[in-house]
Amino acid sequence: MASPCVELSNKMKMPVLGLGTWQAPPGKVEEVAKCAIDAGYRLFDCAYFYQNENEIGNAVQQKIKEGAVKREDLFIVTKAGEELNPVDEKGMSIPSDTDFLDTWEAMEELVDCGLVKAIGISNFNHEQIERILNKPGLKYKPVNNQIECHPYLTQEKLINYCQSKGIVVTAYSPLGSPNRPWAKPGEPVLLEDPRIKEIAVRHHKTPAQVLIRFLIQREVVVIPKSEKPQRIEENIKVFDFELSKKEMDVILSFNRNWRAVPVPQAVNHKDYPFKAEY
Ligand SMILES: NC(=O)c1ccc[n+]([C@@H]2O[C@H](COP(=O)([O-])OP(=O)(O)OC[C@H]3O[C@@H](n4cnc5c(N)ncnc54)[C@H](OP(=O)(O)O)[C@@H]3O)[C@@H](O)[C@H]2O)c1
Repeated sequence: MASPCVELSNKMKMPVLGLGTWQAPPGKVEEVAKCAIDAGYRLFDCAYFYQNENEIGNAVQQKIKEGAVKREDLFIVTKAGEELNPVDEKGMSIPSDTDFLDTWEAMEELVDCGLVKAIGISNFNHEQIERILNKPGLKYKPVNNQIECHPYLTQEKLINYCQSKGIVVTAYSPLGSPNRPWAKPGEPVLLEDPRIKEIAVRHHKTPAQVLIRFLIQREVVVIPKSEKPQRIEENIKVFDFELSKKEMDVILSFNRNWRAVPVPQAVNHKDYPFKAEY
């Protein structure tokens, strides 16, 4: 079954579940993406930075050729970025003095040229979003804000804010990003949390399925990454059960404002977004 969709403010439909592709090896991701399409994934979260977009594009092209899927049923997300994270000799990001309002204007032009169908933002806090929404002459509102979200970082205020402005939220690292390269011993492991495991057992589901369902029930789009066919199939089998209101509240109470992706090398950047409360 293909993933259901949410409607964006520009009336386009976006699948509520998609495949994350960060750290999916280029040599493997083509098969992975094909397997995901067969399993019903219609949303792919990509980025130039992930250095595997050509391979994902090949998979999409082949699946369209085979007649397995139509282009108009696929929602492909990418993220702008010319250079791969330029850093100085201390490993800190080299800041750019570009005003993101100018970047937004350039992105609006991409819509007008027909190069993209919708534009959104990622890792924006509510003050930064407010700045875009208040931009004089704003042509297109962001349709989506992609942010880290899972039970240890529930993002209630930011999600409420975005939803109140008609901006759909996408949750990245929904499983707590266990494979992040900077993980340290002693850091919390969401998939191993006995409280999540207990809820999963109750529903005859896996912890990953509970973590994904938790976000879908908050009307948040979710993009778990896997390069294993069995897990890709497991992660989309989340439309045949429901967490109760009480279970949702319990899981929300696990919040500890813990970030899997804090991007410390950008902490001195003028637009570093994670200092604001939300
Ligand atoms: N905008 C941004 O700044 C930003 C930042 C980070 C991530 N993202 C996007 O969000 C996506 C997801 O986040 P993420 O990759 O950080 O982490 P994630 O989706 O929370 O976790 C992925 C990890 O969980 C494992 N996994 C997947 N399904 C599983 C299952 N059913 N049971 C057990 N383990 C499972 C995967 O291993 P296997 O692959 O071996 O199965 C992988 O190591 C990224 O791939 C990327 O597209 C965006």
